[in-house]
Amino acid sequence: LPPARISPSLLAADFARLGEEVRNVIAAGADWIHFDVMDNHFVPNLSIGPMVCEAIRPHTEAPIDVHLMVEPVDALVPQFAKAGANIITFHPEASRHPDRTLSLIHDHGCRAGLVFNPATPLAWMDHVMDKLDIVLLMSVNPGFGGQAFIPSTLAKLKQTRARIDAWVQAGGQPIALEVDGGVKADNIAAIRAAGADTFVAGSAIFGKPDYKAVIEEMRREILK
Ligand code: DX5
Ligand code: ZN
Repeated sequence: LPPARISPSLLAADFARLGEEVRNVIAAGADWIHFDVMDNHFVPNLSIGPMVCEAIRPHTEAPIDVHLMVEPVDALVPQFAKAGANIITFHPEASRHPDRTLSLIHDHGCRAGLVFNPATPLAWMDHVMDKLDIVLLMSVNPGFGGQAFIPSTLAKLKQTRARIDAWVQAGGQPIALEVDGGVKADNIAAIRAAGADTFVAGSAIFGKPDYKAVIEEMRREILK
């Protein structure tokens, strides 16, 4: 497996002190910043947009991992690229033309990926494998932080790992495999064993006083 990456979700951070939260969590050993964008349409909640991404950009050199939970998708891609996003993922059922959206993200200089809700079939990736830098599997139904990990995700994760490995073995580009929702120190080892290389965690990190202690505990669990 590729080395593990931790991408703390800002959704659980203190919104009144976002710059400081970003600096602290990266100093605590996080690799990426997971940036959840919700539109009160594709998901039943409203969060943060490109202006907030632009505001946190000067606070870190770590990649900003933008997870778009919006419909439609395309109009936000140039805005997030301009706001300093490095990775942009979207839900394929929220875009009329997922292949076009993936190309649009690349054209704007970002890494691109698809996000799969728990009940969304992996078949959406069949014909766009060559355009994927990352696949994000949701282990909760998106919209809120702090939900419980849905156990059936582990089987789906293994299937996704197998598809990616087969793709790479056949000469395809590497594709990261990220998991989002209910990830905690006590289940991260099982998620790693099922094939994830990138771990989003919101409440498990920002809900604790010592970010470094949680991130170190997660890394220990991953290496077990
Ligand atoms: C859910 C978001 C997640 C969420 C994760 O809609 O996409 O990124 O913030 O939060 P936790 O880790 O608390 O489940
Ligand atoms: Zn997310």
